[in-house]
Amino acid sequence: MPYQVTLQPSGHTFSVAADTAILDAALDAGFNLPYGCKDGACGTCKGKVLSGQVDLGAAQDEPLSAAERAAGMALFCCARPKSDLIIEVREISAVRDIPVRTMPCRVHKLQKLADDVMAISLKLPANERLQFLAGQYIEFLLKDGKRRAFSLASPPHADEFLEIHVRHVPGGNFTDHVFTRMKERDIMRIEGPLGSFFLREDSDKPIILLAGGTGIAPIKGLVEHALHIGIKRPIQLYYGAKDLAGLYLNERAKQWAATHPHITYVPVLSEPAVADAWAGRSGLVHEAVLADHAELSAWQVYACGAPAMCEAAKRDFTARGLPSDEFFADVFSFAPR
Ligand SMILES: Cc1cc2nc3c(=O)[nH]c(=O)nc-3n(C[C@H](O)[C@H](O)[C@H](O)COP(=O)(O)OP(=O)(O)OC[C@H]3O[C@@H](n4cnc5c(N)ncnc54)[C@H](O)[C@@H]3O)c2cc1C
Ligand code: FES
Repeated sequence: MPYQVTLQPSGHTFSVAADTAILDAALDAGFNLPYGCKDGACGTCKGKVLSGQVDLGAAQDEPLSAAERAAGMALFCCARPKSDLIIEVREISAVRDIPVRTMPCRVHKLQKLADDVMAISLKLPANERLQFLAGQYIEFLLKDGKRRAFSLASPPHADEFLEIHVRHVPGGNFTDHVFTRMKERDIMRIEGPLGSFFLREDSDKPIILLAGGTGIAPIKGLVEHALHIGIKRPIQLYYGAKDLAGLYLNERAKQWAATHPHITYVPVLSEPAVADAWAGRSGLVHEAVLADHAELSAWQVYACGAPAMCEAAKRDFTARGLPSDEFFADVFSFAPR
């Protein structure tokens, strides 16, 4: 039997079957609730159950603590209804108008950006364009029915090709394929655009961009979009990697800062190689932000990269006064097994 869900504060309603995740039903009904991993791991979809009962499903402990569970919070990507519900959750109106599409695409170009990072340029069928917001991601639909998520590194205005940056995960089904067998002209299927990681253009707050490894991919899309539409809000880009080879967009980032006075760039290495002769900042990239900012209440933060970096950033930045709804993250988690 389907249950009725009412969203607060909007008052929007939709129905959801007992065996369906509340997030999935909301998205199907055209209401864009925020989400990242859809796997109970990142916490992006968290909200409050104001009335009714839910089964919390496979929510992990890190993004949903015991205290939050006791306070009625839920991860709506995992939670299923056990009664009619009233839930409190933020809705994203900008994404809601963009249709998610499944389409074939051709591998136009493969280019190694680092030993373990491949840029793939994808060409859509003639006269097809993917509408998306800078920073969103696509999923490859694989032959075995599995999906793999990758962020769009290209900005929406440069839409002839879609650019993604793939880090090689040794032993990984898809990324092994990219590095060993994928060829130019191969045909793939993608679905997109997905996710709620995009630039909030209705704000005038200064921006911190935090990128770890290939987390620079959607950040590149955000920066190029912001420059394209002439956003002049101060932007501080912190870009971290293990060593200099891992900072594969270092020169591009230096150029953004050199040519735009409102952009500053802080590269950070956690384990610089001796050959790097590194004289710059060292340590964890989110700690460099903390070292530079005693107080973050006036800022808006966009973080992208490994789960540990995003979780630590959210925890430590909100402890410095960053409002939690001014923290946006795309967590590069693995697809569910
Ligand atoms: C929204 C989003 C955007 C992303 N954007 C990017 C991007 O722009 N660039 C990028 O490089 N990556 C990105 N990622 C991560 C990327 O999707 C994964 O690296 C990719 O799916 C790995 O695929 P694979 O088939 O090679 O690895 P898999 O075969 O899925 O797994 C690789 C290895 O990890 C292990 N593993 C699998 N699942 C788990 C798990 N749940 N926990 C622990 N270990 C596990 C496996 O045993 C295996 O050894 C993004 C992820 C998300 C969710
Ligand atoms: S925990 Fe629900 S989307 Fe990540």
